[in-house]
Amino acid sequence: MMIEPTTAQPESLPLEAGDVPNPYADRPMVAQLKGVQKVYYKPDGSVMVKALRGVDIEIHQGEYVAIMGASGSGKSTLMNILGCLDQPTEGQYLLAGKDINEMDDEGLSQFRGRTIGFVFQAFNLIPQLTVEDNVAVPLFYQGVEAGERRKRAIEKLGLVGLGDRLGHRPRELSGGQQQRVAIARSLVAEPRVLMADEPTGNLDSKTGEEILTLFEKLHAGGMSILMVTHDDSVADRCERVIRLRDGVVEWDRRLRTRAVGAGS
Ligand SMILES: Nc1ncnc2c1ncn2[C@@H]1O[C@H](COP(=O)(O)OP(=O)(O)OP(=O)(O)O)[C@@H](O)[C@H]1O
Ligand SMILES: [Mg+2]
Repeated sequence: MMIEPTTAQPESLPLEAGDVPNPYADRPMVAQLKGVQKVYYKPDGSVMVKALRGVDIEIHQGEYVAIMGASGSGKSTLMNILGCLDQPTEGQYLLAGKDINEMDDEGLSQFRGRTIGFVFQAFNLIPQLTVEDNVAVPLFYQGVEAGERRKRAIEKLGLVGLGDRLGHRPRELSGGQQQRVAIARSLVAEPRVLMADEPTGNLDSKTGEEILTLFEKLHAGGMSILMVTHDDSVADRCERVIRLRDGVVEWDRRLRTRAVGAGS
């Protein structure tokens, strides 16, 4: 399906998301939060921090979204819930249409592994493993046999431009290359959505650019991408920006629609 790009908006005046037709609206939702709250408690059971205070967000298949906000506004808390690394205290989270509260630990872990690719600011590669083996790790947990793991890992490393670094260890790579290995790992199980918390946060701006270019390529191929950033120039490359303030959505705006890929 081809979708006409909307007219580019001046960057200083992004539109409210609701003011522009969402070109992805007829696609299934990859993530839907309803009234999500997250409270961190002290050991004595009293409330320490209300990190999220009622968040409603809908993200459709194929969107490219940045989550912004000041330090402490709840971005990582939100991303950890979206990535099923943490659970809301209140409210509902539907991941690809399924209520994660209705799944047991094993079911959720399997579903998460097939649905979400997660990228961390600090790469989180295993230093003892080669690049190829790092990328293949998620497939090992899914019981994929060795030859197939190898084939798929090499394919994703080719996609991120590291087909010539298969036998290297992470420490033998630059920061940008390590993050590309982490992205290849996040993609190896063919997820429906890529989630990343400050994926360029540990990189200089030139190396960060490599990662943004790669995200744009993945998005053009139909991948849904959700990224936390505190950098305006990074957020400005996305299609939609959700800004948090003190644990609530301050605003949610659509900047543009990029060429929309095949989607799935
Ligand atoms: N495990 C925790 N226990 C208690 N409080 C926490 C915990 N994690 C986060 N918080 C608090 O929740 C609030 C939101 O934190 P969060 O890490 O989500 O912010 P952030 O927007 O990601 O900030 P930054 O830009 O600095 O990464 C902060 O006040 C923080 O101190
Ligand atoms: Mg954070």
